[in-house]
Amino acid sequence: MAKRFENKVVVVTGGTDGIGLTTAQAFAAEGAHIYITGRRQERLDEALKEIGDGVVGVQGDVSNLADLDRLYARIEKDRGRVDVVFANAGVSESAPIGGIEEDHFARVFDINVKGTVFTVQKALPLMSAGASIILAGSGAGSKGFPNLSIYSATKAAIRSFARTWTADLQSRGIRVNVVSPGMILTPAMQTYLESNAGIEDWMKQTIPFGQIGKTKDVAKAVLFLASHESSYVGGEELFVDGGFVAV
Ligand SMILES: NC(=O)c1ccc[n+]([C@@H]2O[C@H](COP(=O)([O-])OP(=O)(O)OC[C@H]3O[C@@H](n4cnc5c(N)ncnc54)[C@H](OP(=O)(O)O)[C@@H]3O)[C@@H](O)[C@H]2O)c1
Repeated sequence: MAKRFENKVVVVTGGTDGIGLTTAQAFAAEGAHIYITGRRQERLDEALKEIGDGVVGVQGDVSNLADLDRLYARIEKDRGRVDVVFANAGVSESAPIGGIEEDHFARVFDINVKGTVFTVQKALPLMSAGASIILAGSGAGSKGFPNLSIYSATKAAIRSFARTWTADLQSRGIRVNVVSPGMILTPAMQTYLESNAGIEDWMKQTIPFGQIGKTKDVAKAVLFLASHESSYVGGEELFVDGGFVAV
């Protein structure tokens, strides 16, 4: 059977860990040429080994425009085009209102919002009709979790981008959608669960499906949004959260 992304050029920012890494592996298994990014060179080198053939790593920070220029210059030289962008790189930090420091605000908005805007904008000259952009949102963008106002606001901005950019890019045949994970078991989440007794039970009781999600669950949704299977889906936010936001 033909692979779904044979010879497609796919960019996954923050592809060295967690959801991004699993998604890059899923694209690789479907025949794509993948470009992953991340700030830590050591982690990037590990991820390249874990993904295997068909992947290139370009070290960089999505909030640094020169790093993004270097990424797309490399892709233009190698392949001359981009078919899929998964703007996944993001950070989550907490602070209660009353205790929000300027550098917390700047860091989270710079990476999650500015990083997403320029990851997408700088890819556009290499994209053409049929291309697909997937942005990483979060259930937090629709909920009111304590201490997460800045992170949650960045993810609400992501949802807004998908809607506006769908209008901006429809004439070029480029689709934009959001994948919004709920509570997903990444290495960082594992550490968090281990250091906070009782939190895993609370999550399982709170999530309608009764279990924490896997990075594979998100990857499957990203590949759907990237593929022709979702050709009439635009400006949408697809929650992968075991029913958490909806129910
Ligand atoms: N895990 C969840 O439960 C969950 C839930 C809702 C939404 N999300 C969203 O899903 C996305 C992925 O989350 P995750 O949990 O998989 O994260 P993760 O395990 O912490 O991995 C984040 C990845 O992004 C990279 N990264 C972080 N900041 C970056 C930057 N400024 N420039 C380039 N790369 C950067 C990291 O590498 P370096 O540190 O080396 O840069 C790493 O590869 C995020 O946007 C997050 O907000 C996750």
